[in-house]
Amino acid sequence: MSRLLVTGGAGFIGSNFVHHVIAHTDHTVTVLDKLTYAGNEASLAGLPEDRVRLVVGDIADAAVVDPLVAEADAVVHYAAESHNDNSLHDPRPFLDTNIIGTYTLLEAARRHDVRFHHISTDEVYGDLELDDPARFTESTPYNPSSPYSSTKAGSDLLVRAWVRSFGVRATISNCSNNYGPYQHVEKFIPRQITNVLRGVRPKLYGTGENVRDWIHADDHSSAVLTILDKGEIGETYLIGADGEKDNKSVVELILQITGNPTDAYDLVTDRPGHDLRYAIDSTKLRTELGWKPTYGDFESGLAATIDWYRENEAWWAPTKDGVEAFYASKGQ
Ligand SMILES: NC(=O)c1ccc[n+]([C@@H]2O[C@H](COP(=O)([O-])OP(=O)(O)OC[C@H]3O[C@@H](n4cnc5c(N)ncnc54)[C@H](O)[C@@H]3O)[C@@H](O)[C@H]2O)c1
Repeated sequence: MSRLLVTGGAGFIGSNFVHHVIAHTDHTVTVLDKLTYAGNEASLAGLPEDRVRLVVGDIADAAVVDPLVAEADAVVHYAAESHNDNSLHDPRPFLDTNIIGTYTLLEAARRHDVRFHHISTDEVYGDLELDDPARFTESTPYNPSSPYSSTKAGSDLLVRAWVRSFGVRATISNCSNNYGPYQHVEKFIPRQITNVLRGVRPKLYGTGENVRDWIHADDHSSAVLTILDKGEIGETYLIGADGEKDNKSVVELILQITGNPTDAYDLVTDRPGHDLRYAIDSTKLRTELGWKPTYGDFESGLAATIDWYRENEAWWAPTKDGVEAFYASKGQ
């Protein structure tokens, strides 16, 4: 049995990971989360109190971080400012959390010789042309587009340097776009689902041709546990489930599953610098560590996610109006 320190465990993917760990292992979990607008204590509701503890604090605060890292067997680092659109309007918190926060955690892991796993994104690789057959691999050069992805790229490079320079026992994973329960309604899929559930037409950036490679958050969690268990120190693993879909198809599928006409959506102004296509080749993780996703079928995973938002309006309703007012002020 291990003691995991999960940063950002009250956010979307971090909370899915905590639920996954409690369901599938004997580990105990301390969540360190600042509870920014993106964190929600309610995402941890119902978990056993003797195995999950929430500490509210900032990963950039060494006085908070140090004792928590010291008592852990492993740190799983999810905490980040994660929303591209926000990073275009105010990049500063992205530097504070994604760069200084990661640095602060790495220094504590170094001091106490604690195993460290860093969660990152495929957005560090930039984007691919729509008609390019290539997919990202672990050797694709970094080419981030936004303040969000550039700070994530910077944090990945810090982890690599702390492995090489100081012998920190760290691994990195870069995952494609996640969907599933507990995702903030500012993000593409939950925003469109909750619009449809409220009888509002979904909004699609540009022409909707941008392609994302979708993976269910629970599959991301099983991949991270696999890397913690069997990953080689210093290595990077790409996580993906072969789920490429253009945004227009995703909106049409949401409309179809909820029984609406598939053309009942509106086009809105595109985001500046909007990446065209992401696609992950996860061969290394599958062949070297034997991982595979369980949600093979995007449509059934999406239908389950829609059911979750239908049944958990109390979780998302308090943030919905504020998010829509923000997008409306940007014409989106
Ligand atoms: N969402 C995706 O599709 C996706 C894909 C690949 C990788 N990732 C990565 O996964 C991680 C989690 O993403 P997410 O979508 O769950 O994000 P999220 O925004 O839903 O959650 C982030 C969490 O971190 C917390 N946090 C933010 N700043 C903090 C700080 N300074 N100290 C402590 N806690 C802080 C927030 O309160 C929140 O609970 C991020 O590192 C992100 O880059 C996300």
